[in-house]
Amino acid sequence: MSALTFLFSLIVTVVGLVNGAATKNDQVEFYVIKQQNLEVTFSNFGARIVSLKFPDKNGKPTDIVLGYDNVEELKADKFDFNAIVGRVANRIGHNQFNSNRTHYKILPNDGKTILNGGKKGFGNVLWNLIELKNTERFSEITFTHKSVNGEEGFPGDLHIEVKYKVISYAINTTITAHSVNKATPIDIAQNLVFNLAGHNSGNILQHDLQINSNKIVELNKDLIPTGNLKIVNNTSYDFLHRQSIGNNLKKEPEGYDINYVLPPRVGLATVAHSNVSGITLAFYTTAQTVHFWTTNEVKNVRGKGGVIYQPHAGFSLVGEGYPDAVNHPEFPSEIYSKGKVFSRRNLYTFALRDWR
Ligand SMILES: *[C@@H]1O[C@H](CO)[C@@H](O)[C@H](O)[C@H]1NC(C)=O
Ligand SMILES: *[C@@H]1O[C@H](CO)[C@@H](O)[C@H](O)[C@H]1NC(C)=O
Ligand SMILES: *[C@@H]1O[C@H](CO)[C@@H](O)[C@H](O)[C@H]1NC(C)=O
Ligand SMILES: *[C@@H]1O[C@H](CO)[C@@H](O)[C@H](O)[C@H]1NC(C)=O
Ligand SMILES: *[C@@H]1O[C@H](CO)[C@@H](O)[C@H](O)[C@H]1NC(C)=O
Repeated sequence: MSALTFLFSLIVTVVGLVNGAATKNDQVEFYVIKQQNLEVTFSNFGARIVSLKFPDKNGKPTDIVLGYDNVEELKADKFDFNAIVGRVANRIGHNQFNSNRTHYKILPNDGKTILNGGKKGFGNVLWNLIELKNTERFSEITFTHKSVNGEEGFPGDLHIEVKYKVISYAINTTITAHSVNKATPIDIAQNLVFNLAGHNSGNILQHDLQINSNKIVELNKDLIPTGNLKIVNNTSYDFLHRQSIGNNLKKEPEGYDINYVLPPRVGLATVAHSNVSGITLAFYTTAQTVHFWTTNEVKNVRGKGGVIYQPHAGFSLVGEGYPDAVNHPEFPSEIYSKGKVFSRRNLYTFALRDWR
């Protein structure tokens, strides 16, 4: 047993004693949940998943999300690996927006843009553990966070709750939020970053992928939407039919960082498979778009077990609204008036069965 695993089991024991009562902590903590062969470790830091183990085709537990070895590395994370991100996921252009006839300016944290809610966002703060429930058939873990009026420049006190339900082959996440006073933009997302062959297996170029959408949100060179949607048929963005990511791979710049528009009520957004592990991931979301990213900017990043992550070490499929919707009246609005509840569900399922 590694020191870290030991620490995890100790902490879970402590949390187990809390028995449902809310805890407020000023320290990073970890909570392990096991449902048959699926073992997921959560942290109150960013309400994150830090490891997700599922057996590969040989029965070997395989950790299929990128992450870090210790609390110091976790706190230094620049990529929000597997965190809950917000108040507004993805980018806001020109670090400004209008809400209810008021102009707001926000400190940029990525060139001229705001990425994933600003300098800290929700992915790099401590959340409150509200509930940890284990039954034979499912487990539930719930975190809450209060984001105060003016934080990162956003208006309104926001209350956020994230509830993860874990069953033997799936993670079902429900995110809800509302502002208690002012209208504010809300687009809170779950930034899971996978490598289905194992986080330490190299790159994801040999994965097969299918995305149920033929429209992307076109971007300019600063990765801000032009306002147009583009049909992907026959381009390197076309994953309507199963493709290997490496065969299709977009060049110059290499890799994907793009939102696909989901048809209303599509449910199943994407499927991915690694023939190295045999693991298939299916992703369902109630969001309007799915963001596909191939960790293009990840270079020489020290990850779990001292493994060094390089570009395309992982990929993410994230349910989001339209990027920079606050500056695009042609996109569905993500401004929520006071009291109006934002709600999003994401379902990630895991199987050893290939889907074609
Ligand atoms: C996911 O959780 C939501 C909310 O609890 C529930 O309504 C839904 O049926 C769940 N989906 C699955 C596939 O378990
Ligand atoms: C595994 O999948 C990749 C990507 O589709 C493909 O290039 C490769 O031939 C497959 N390998 C086997 C052994 O099927
Ligand atoms: C794009 O491909 C989809 C699925 O194959 C098809 O339904 C659609 O008609 C195509 N669109 C164009 C413009 O070719
Ligand atoms: C894609 O390619 C197919 C076959 O070559 C062709 O029939 C179709 O019109 C093309 N679609 C687009 C949008 O270019
Ligand atoms: C906009 O601001 C006005 C005045 O501050 C307030 O009365 C109104 O409720 C706000 N609208 C929304 C949608 O929050």
